[in-house]
Amino acid sequence: SPEQPVPILPPEVLLKVFRYLSPEDLCHCGQVCTSWSHLAKTGSLWKHLYPVHWARGQHCRGPPEDQEQEPDAEWVQSREDEGRAYQEWDEDADIDESEGALEDSPAIGAIQREKKVLNGIIQNLLPAVGPSVRSIVLAYSVALSSKMVRQILSLCPNLTHLDLTQTDITDSAFDSWACLGACQTLEHLDLSGCAKITDLTLKRLSLALGPGVPQASGGRAHGPAQIWVLDPAQLADIEDEWRCWGGACDGRRGLSEPLAPPTPGACCCKRSRRRGLSANAASYWQQYGSVGGALSGLRTVSPSGGEVDFRTKLAEEAEKPRPRRESCRRLRLLSLSGCFEVTDLGLRALSQRGGLPRLEHLNLSGCLFITECGLQELVTACPSLNDQHFYYCDNINGPHADTASGCQNLQCGFRACCRSGE
Ligand code: FES
Repeated sequence: SPEQPVPILPPEVLLKVFRYLSPEDLCHCGQVCTSWSHLAKTGSLWKHLYPVHWARGQHCRGPPEDQEQEPDAEWVQSREDEGRAYQEWDEDADIDESEGALEDSPAIGAIQREKKVLNGIIQNLLPAVGPSVRSIVLAYSVALSSKMVRQILSLCPNLTHLDLTQTDITDSAFDSWACLGACQTLEHLDLSGCAKITDLTLKRLSLALGPGVPQASGGRAHGPAQIWVLDPAQLADIEDEWRCWGGACDGRRGLSEPLAPPTPGACCCKRSRRRGLSANAASYWQQYGSVGGALSGLRTVSPSGGEVDFRTKLAEEAEKPRPRRESCRRLRLLSLSGCFEVTDLGLRALSQRGGLPRLEHLNLSGCLFITECGLQELVTACPSLNDQHFYYCDNINGPHADTASGCQNLQCGFRACCRSGE
């Protein structure tokens, strides 16, 4: 009715309606009232983000695989023109920073909008939906900075697809990948034309992809001493279970807090951490029937980073051979086309820690400092590589030379190639 312009619908029905809206309309809906604001920030509505397109009124949705594979030449050209115009405007910013100047130049206006959309996503959307985001396409962004990428990566831990093609980012964009297993879900990483990227990014990527396939037969870890690690994603669950074991205690103490010396007959929270875990694990086992489940967040890794294994109190269970576990390193596509500062050291970093067992597509066109040796080492660690999607400099007589696809940058005016200008 006219008195009631906003229909009162159950949230599940509203959510279905929201699925048909463009990102812009969804943002407008989020400003209607508090409950709509919460609903508009439902993770499933924001799995695939295209800020560069959205800023230009193109409301792409769905996974990147469903979109056009390559942007057309006209689109790329207009992004380059915008970039140039913005650079010139930025240099003269003191003189010409009026609203009028923005209105006069659609290119500058588009980049200002892009910056606004990126900041809005980082500050208002990702803190709520970050863990649900699967893909982010930022290709050809002029407004994107390394700091923005850093913020995005720390807010979106479950990314599978990241496209940073032809952006101005540096190694510092990947600071958050400097720890083990920081991007274990990543399958597609496009850094084509990111000319400031160096070996440091590849070292961080290799570490962040997590441990590789178990080396030992039957999936058991053998050899050198293992390192205990706590899976951060499950730490909260462990703390909850710890509180469960506490029974009558108030359970407000977290695992990270120092514990008081053991007192006979006292509450479990006052025992030493190890004794508390051991004694109470037994009662938990009686109660829930699975110590392994209770300790699912506590794992061991070998120093080589190869095996990740649950450790339980049941030694005989632990000694049984287990089915071989799949590698965490899920990367299927990596493009470093035009990243001319990358060297064999970077390729070596990628081939370590279990290599890239699922990598099918590898583009190293325009990586001017890599050699046959570096390529050979990496290819040996990439058993799934498809030669049709394997590109490197035509001047290198490297692995799969007869079947690989050669350099892709021969005709490309804006990415490094040892034959440009010939
Ligand atoms: Fe050598 Fe392109 S990098 S042919």
